[in-house]
Formats: sequence, C-alpha cells, structure tokens
Amino acid sequence: MRLRAVHADITTLAVDAIVNAANSSLLGGGGVDGAIHRAAGPQLLEECRLLRGCQTGEAKLTKGYRLPARFVIHTVGPIWQDGAHGELELLASCYRRSIEVAAANGIVTLAFPSISTGVFGYPVEPAAKVAVTAVRSAADEFPGIQEVVFCCFSATDLATYTRRLAEIGN
Ligand code: AR6
Repeated sequence: MRLRAVHADITTLAVDAIVNAANSSLLGGGGVDGAIHRAAGPQLLEECRLLRGCQTGEAKLTKGYRLPARFVIHTVGPIWQDGAHGELELLASCYRRSIEVAAANGIVTLAFPSISTGVFGYPVEPAAKVAVTAVRSAADEFPGIQEVVFCCFSATDLATYTRRLAEIGN
C-alpha cells in the first residue's frame, strides 16, 4: 500500500473512492461533506437517505454519481471535546472501517480528507498521527488497496501529513 499526501480539493480526485467526513445523519452539512454533495449532485443525498444514518467511527458506501470517484465512503468522526472522551479510538476506527469497506468493495485507490479536523475541532497534529498510524497498520491486511491519499485542504495540513508520513518511513 502506497501512502501519500497531496494538497487538493478531494472532489477533484480520480481515485476509486473518496471518503466523506460526514455527520451521523448522513444528510449533508458544511465543509468537505457539503463540497462532496454539491459535486456529486442530488442523487447522492437520495442514496444517503436510504442508509438511515451512521454511528461515529463507522463507515457506509454509496456511489459517487457526478464525481470522478466511483464511490464515496461516508464516515463520521468524533467531535473533539478534550481528548479524554475516546476521540483517538473513534477517529482511528473511521480510518480502519473505511479501509475495510473499501476492501470489501474491490476499491484499489482511496482518498481521505483530514477527518474531524474542521467543524468537529480535532487538532490536526494528533489527528494526522492517528490517520497515518491507522492506515499504515491496516496496510498488510488489505493488500488489494494499493494507494491511500491523504487529501489536505491547506498547505499547513499538507506539511503536517508529510511530516507524519516521514516519521513512519514513508
Ligand atoms: N476537499 C478536501 N478537504 C476539505 C474540503 C475539500 N473540498 N473541504 C473541507 N476540507 P470538515 P469534520 C477539509 O469540517 O471536522 C460537516 O458539516 C477541512 O479543511 O469538513 O469531520 C459534516 O456534515 C478539514 O481539514 O469535517 C459534519 O457535521 C477537513 O476537511 C461536520 O462538518 C475536515 O473538515 C464534520 O466535521
């Protein structure tokens, strides 16, 4: 599994699946969720309605509709409180479950946004560490997934992810 970080709008990436940092209703919102729904078109919301929500740390698959990506994997990150409310484990679970759902659906290339680090307030430095560690530790188990992209929406986030990837020898 190849891991890399890029500075991009995730809705433009031509990977098999992009991950959405959604909320538990799966009925849309702001941030990357809003951008994905706008780019995919109204059919995405129609399919999301059928899913009846998603718990924090879980992941569910839909089609990508008008997106270049064939699928969207919707996951719900934790809302940051103080770090003592299971935030780390729940965030790691988002990455883990998204990879499991991707592998179960034959997805080879996958892109993640920096889950929970916008509206949900998770500090980006520890979040990037959780993200990189969770993905790296799943790599050997899911050899069908060949590439995971950490899609950073700012240059500072890109620097953070690049540093974290270097730390694990990537
Ligand atoms: N491409 C890539 N990353 C993006 C994009 C984009 N187009 N737009 C924003 N980001 P957030 P959360 C980055 O707030 O913290 C929504 O309302 C953003 O800069 O989108 O998990 C949902 O419905 C940040 O680095 O998600 C939920 O209610 C990262 O994506 C809630 O927000 C995540 O920020 C979820 O909050």
